[in-house]
Amino acid sequence: MEAQVKKVKSKNSEVKDKLNQLLADYQLYYQNLRGLHWNVKGSMFFMLHEKFEEYYNEAADAVDEIAERILMIGGTPLHTFSDYIKYASIQETENVSDGKEAVYVTLDNSKHLLNRFNEVLEVAEKAGDEATSALMSDFISAAEKRIWMLSSVLA
Ligand SMILES: [Fe+2]
Repeated sequence: MEAQVKKVKSKNSEVKDKLNQLLADYQLYYQNLRGLHWNVKGSMFFMLHEKFEEYYNEAADAVDEIAERILMIGGTPLHTFSDYIKYASIQETENVSDGKEAVYVTLDNSKHLLNRFNEVLEVAEKAGDEATSALMSDFISAAEKRIWMLSSVLA
């Protein structure tokens, strides 16, 4: 029985750790979108300026959902810039003003997030954490749609 409890606990901590890594990546994705919204120039300006705003608003909601899920399962969400930089694997984007490059960066970041969602989903399923799994499923659907749309812009 005690071994069983220990096993559940270690699986739960794996979910918390993976969610915190996802949170860090999401914050980088969010800030990258803000920068792209501000700096993009050229013929695609109106479309991209607006689209990036839509994406960062969605990202802000997602960040909050992830952080609150971490709290619900007994963890502490990372909440400082220094921790986000330390744990994120998405890179900071700086001084991108070309429309195509901005779309490419967002596509690349989105693919990265999609991999993270799948990683979290895997550990959440192993831990029997239904709510985290469901949250990841929603994120996966949204990311796949975004990836398709961004790829279409570049096609
Ligand atoms: Fe704005």
